[in-house]
Amino acid sequence: MKAATRLKAFSCALATVAVMAASPALAKTFKIAVGDGAGGTQHELGKAFISALEAKTGKKHTATLFLNGQLGSEEDTVNNAATGTLDMSILAINNVTPFSPTVGTLTLPYVILSLEDAEKLTQGPIGQELVENTVRDAGVRIIGWAYSGFRVLTNSKRPVESVADLKGLVVRVPKNEIMIETYKAWGINPTPMAWSETFSALQQKVVDGQDNPYITVHSMKFDEVQKYITNIRYIFSIEPLIISEAVFQDLSEQDRKAVLEAGKEATKHSAQFLRAKENAIKAELTARGMKISEPAGGEAEFISLATKTVWPKFYDSVGGAAKVNAVLKALGRDTIQ
Ligand code: MLT
Repeated sequence: MKAATRLKAFSCALATVAVMAASPALAKTFKIAVGDGAGGTQHELGKAFISALEAKTGKKHTATLFLNGQLGSEEDTVNNAATGTLDMSILAINNVTPFSPTVGTLTLPYVILSLEDAEKLTQGPIGQELVENTVRDAGVRIIGWAYSGFRVLTNSKRPVESVADLKGLVVRVPKNEIMIETYKAWGINPTPMAWSETFSALQQKVVDGQDNPYITVHSMKFDEVQKYITNIRYIFSIEPLIISEAVFQDLSEQDRKAVLEAGKEATKHSAQFLRAKENAIKAELTARGMKISEPAGGEAEFISLATKTVWPKFYDSVGGAAKVNAVLKALGRDTIQ
């Protein structure tokens, strides 16, 4: 849907909300779209959100999770939430960026270097600004964050340890310009594709590889169609829980508070889940036959190409070089010129 059409639909949805505002708030079962399968970080965030929401509202409100992209591609769910035809969605931040470009600050390669960096950014003033930008640009509100770990590269053909090893591989990426440009900087033209189509594309060998965190690779059963993993750390995957702004504004003040608090509790749980589970899941993928390679030279070549070539291309879309500097400063890192 074009931005103007989406905005019009969003305005209509808000108008409907205004008419309904006088009616008493009814008990709700929110529908939550989830891009990934069972056992992943998105699923875990969703479950934690539902228990907290039920506890805070005395079970007046609850929600149902629809896993594995049953309610459409992750991009579709943003559009549907914007128009109020879907309540909530849990999806990767890279699939929100096309609707609200400033969230690209969270997907610039090698900006977030740890789970602690991810928590600091999303839960601090920078995260709050991105929440407001997303309401303004996309008609959806981020109310919680799943932390999924670094996106590692998987493929079915051969071990990849250097940028040169990528040559000849067909790699699927999300429809995200920053990620597309990153692979171009590494010397290959990636294939942009919706997440919901990725498993079958890997299975049918339309593409050779993709990147996503260990826990996502595991929850999507990619070990059935991929053999090799390269332990790169170019993007730390952050996956927000979004609510339709129209649906959010339709809630009573007390229910809005409960929704926001439940999102915060689920966010805390997500970080604990990642800390507790990532290593065991990595070991399980190895036990199932996947081979993990470390990038040669401590990833230096991947880092240098991605930061020097890719960052400057996106300064404008993420809010300027000053915004990137604010992020780096918040993380205690050296700023750019
Ligand atoms: C993607 O690769 O499109 C997403 O990161 C998948 C996900 O939501 O886990």
